[in-house]
Amino acid sequence: RLHMMGRGNLVKCLQKVDTFLIRNIGTNVALQEERDGCKSLYAVQAERLDQAERSVLISCNSRTNEKKFLKFLSTHGNIKKYFFYESYGTHAVVEFANRESVASLFEITTIPSISHESLVPFKSRLLTLRNLGLDNLPNQLSGQQSHSQTTIPINQLIQNLSGEESMDQQIISLTKAFQLTEENSRLRFLVCSLLKDIAAAFFPECTIKPFGSSVNGFGKLGCDLDMFLDLDGISGRDTKLLKLGMSLEYQMKMANSERAVTQSILTVIGECVDQFGPGCVGVQKILNARCPLVRFAHQPSGFQCDLTANNRVAMKSTELLYLYGELDPRVRYLVFTVRCWARAQGITSSIPGAWISNFSLTVMVLFFLQKRSPPIIPTVDQLRDLAGPADKSVIEGNDCTFVSDFSKIQLQSNTETLEQLLCEFFEFYSTFAFKRMSINIRKGKEQNKPEVSPLHIQNPFETTLNISKNVNATQLDRFVAVCQESSWLVQQNKKPTPSAGIKGNAFAPWGLSSLLLPSQVEGIKRKGKKRKWEPASDRIKNLLESLKNKNQ
Ligand code: GTP
Ligand code: MG
Repeated sequence: RLHMMGRGNLVKCLQKVDTFLIRNIGTNVALQEERDGCKSLYAVQAERLDQAERSVLISCNSRTNEKKFLKFLSTHGNIKKYFFYESYGTHAVVEFANRESVASLFEITTIPSISHESLVPFKSRLLTLRNLGLDNLPNQLSGQQSHSQTTIPINQLIQNLSGEESMDQQIISLTKAFQLTEENSRLRFLVCSLLKDIAAAFFPECTIKPFGSSVNGFGKLGCDLDMFLDLDGISGRDTKLLKLGMSLEYQMKMANSERAVTQSILTVIGECVDQFGPGCVGVQKILNARCPLVRFAHQPSGFQCDLTANNRVAMKSTELLYLYGELDPRVRYLVFTVRCWARAQGITSSIPGAWISNFSLTVMVLFFLQKRSPPIIPTVDQLRDLAGPADKSVIEGNDCTFVSDFSKIQLQSNTETLEQLLCEFFEFYSTFAFKRMSINIRKGKEQNKPEVSPLHIQNPFETTLNISKNVNATQLDRFVAVCQESSWLVQQNKKPTPSAGIKGNAFAPWGLSSLLLPSQVEGIKRKGKKRKWEPASDRIKNLLESLKNKNQ
């Protein structure tokens, strides 16, 4: 029946199912079962890292003959998955079924012969395909579409969203347009695995794992790649039984503190990435930050990378965010939408500064969801109380324990729609007592502020820290003003009925799309003065003009 429906009808049908599931989330048994089958982040990472170890990244020509390319590679073993993408040229990610295939491929791979420059002879799984001039026919890659690694432009998104049926549907579409794709996710793990090969020169047992938005479920195409050099798996940490009353220890260099060790490891690995890492450019060692890191761009993937070490608490926060995102689909949809809205409104930025970070914003959404009646998600304390002995985790004296078995978590039957939740989010933070109160997802309740920062969000694991310490009063005021404006806008810009639509354009921005237009709060918000709202119609007219011109 699905075959006979045709693609258009099938998409409509699936959208209806999606909306139905969202509306009936509180009682939906199917979703509960799906949740019980969820993999922990730990399991997802292990599977992805294994795939990455069996993969190679090949820079090729867009006119490469795909069939011949695959035939050529298949002589080294079974190919499990492959795809092409564009980033400073065409690239292919090829995953073999077995690791031996990579070794076999290396046997026929040669070192380039360059006459004017000298090469660093560091071999990696980043390769270049040379066509011998026989296969350069146009559009040879058409059989396998090249996967985009970037999002659609915001104007295009606004137009697409305006054509949706409901605000719930707009929120779902926005998430689907911006979330990481399967291919992008694979590429992120592959870059970690390539980096691991460099670090393994010193620490053969190390792993490099992605954390943050690359894996927490809230990552948008184009987000940075946060990586964590994990040395905890190095063997020999357990005390061995004495044989004949003797034991052996490694002699090792000492440093003053764990931080000093992290800094020295990152100094050396950072230097290697800079000097030997193919495709790694613009390496900066930022070692005096609270969390020391090496920042660089990985050109073949187009990712901006941050490599850290000994950052286990951040890994735990990533796991926690992932768990919340998996508990109820509304969490991901809402976090995604709020992150996108905040970016479009200039509340967040890709440059670090006195503004709210995506991490803080995500915690604010989680807190709001804990405050619904009944709550949509449990508090961190409740998750800790459900933890089993294997979940126990204490990092540098901080209790980071929470349950890993999703099926132990019972959710309450809250049936609010995405539209209701988004509107309520704006209302909630329009009137939140930021002056006196701290946001606390451990308790699910606001607490008196322990210090005077304008915005206080308790770090869920290092509870004496404020994750939004960087935010100044101006940025917080702007956040509140934009929440107020958005709350008002969303009431005003309901979906136009066909007769009431702006003449000549069926895609007038309404609902979520009207919230992504640049804010007018700059200049309106003056201390002591009453706010005056600019009519949204002027902005909508301007946008329509720009869209019309684009389409001409
Ligand atoms: P984007 O990169 O902006 O898409 O989001 P992100 O969630 O990846 O944030 P970011 O790259 O700034 O940080 C990566 C991860 O580090 C976050 O997901 C958190 O787990 C952690 N992190 C970031 N900022 C803080 C902080 O202030 N305190 C703590 N404990 N962890 C943080
Ligand atoms: Mg990040």
